[in-house]
Amino acid sequence: MKQRLLDKNVFITGASSGIGRVTAIEFAKEGANVALFSRNKERLEEVKKEIEALNRKALVFIGDVTDQESIKDAINKTIEEFGSIDIFHSNAGIYLRCAAKDLRIDQIRKIMEVNYYGSLNCLYSILPYFLEKNSGSFISTCSVDGKVGLPPDSAYVASKFAMNGFFQVLRQELRGTNVHIGVIFPGRMDTPQIKHVDCPKISKKNDPIIVAKAAVKCVIKKKPEIIVPRFSSRLLIVADCISPKLSSWLIRANKLAGYENDIEPINEAK
Ligand SMILES: NC(=O)c1ccc[n+]([C@@H]2O[C@H](COP(=O)([O-])OP(=O)(O)OC[C@H]3O[C@@H](n4cnc5c(N)ncnc54)[C@H](OP(=O)(O)O)[C@@H]3O)[C@@H](O)[C@H]2O)c1
Repeated sequence: MKQRLLDKNVFITGASSGIGRVTAIEFAKEGANVALFSRNKERLEEVKKEIEALNRKALVFIGDVTDQESIKDAINKTIEEFGSIDIFHSNAGIYLRCAAKDLRIDQIRKIMEVNYYGSLNCLYSILPYFLEKNSGSFISTCSVDGKVGLPPDSAYVASKFAMNGFFQVLRQELRGTNVHIGVIFPGRMDTPQIKHVDCPKISKKNDPIIVAKAAVKCVIKKKPEIIVPRFSSRLLIVADCISPKLSSWLIRANKLAGYENDIEPINEAK
């Protein structure tokens, strides 16, 4: 197989599990060296071993995307070790399934802190470097939930809509530079994040390898957006553009929503 990213250097957050793990390995299969960032050292070390078995270099950084200093520090060390960073994949994220009426504001803030501000912490840690060298690809894992919201995911959906909106504008502002901004919108994937969620057949969980392949394609073809899987996810998005009533009907008719909370409902007035 031709390695399309031979000797490119990738930095990826949330590399210890699910989509990030599979994507880090896919980048290495395409010939890239990969810096792996998240909070769980043991699991990152396992991914590192898998990458080294492919004869690619890997670095492990323990950090939290809500702590910008830990990201900046890891970026500096990666540039020292690898010589450069060509691709930054902001992928770390958390999920909470809870009806809006039962949510607490601090839970909503936590989701925003990790998914939205965490992604921006990544962006603002690498963007000056990419602009300075006038090259680089910044991609992020958003979600179909960043285009059409499913109940009862309001807090998660809001964080992904925020990401989508920010990067849509940034991409336009960076027109004329050689810095690429790409966003990936996965439907439901079979990862630990949603292992407790039952999905109907029409919205079955997919193998995260399709997101990994989309990430590689996004970088190589400098795509602004990729939706995976193509058909079922796109159908809902197109329906929503035609009429919100139509997408709400599709969600109800296909039982796409979940009705159980991940957390106990909170009664603030108690
Ligand atoms: N699974 C799906 O159906 C689906 C669909 C659409 C989009 N997504 C998005 O895809 C991304 C990856 O999710 P996944 O499904 O692969 O979930 P996952 O298996 O739970 O992986 C989440 C990753 O994020 C890392 N992480 C979480 N909080 C972090 C923090 N504060 N700082 C640094 N790293 C953190 C975790 O690592 P540590 O615990 O080691 O820190 C882990 O590596 C997320 O942004 C998610 O929202 C998932």
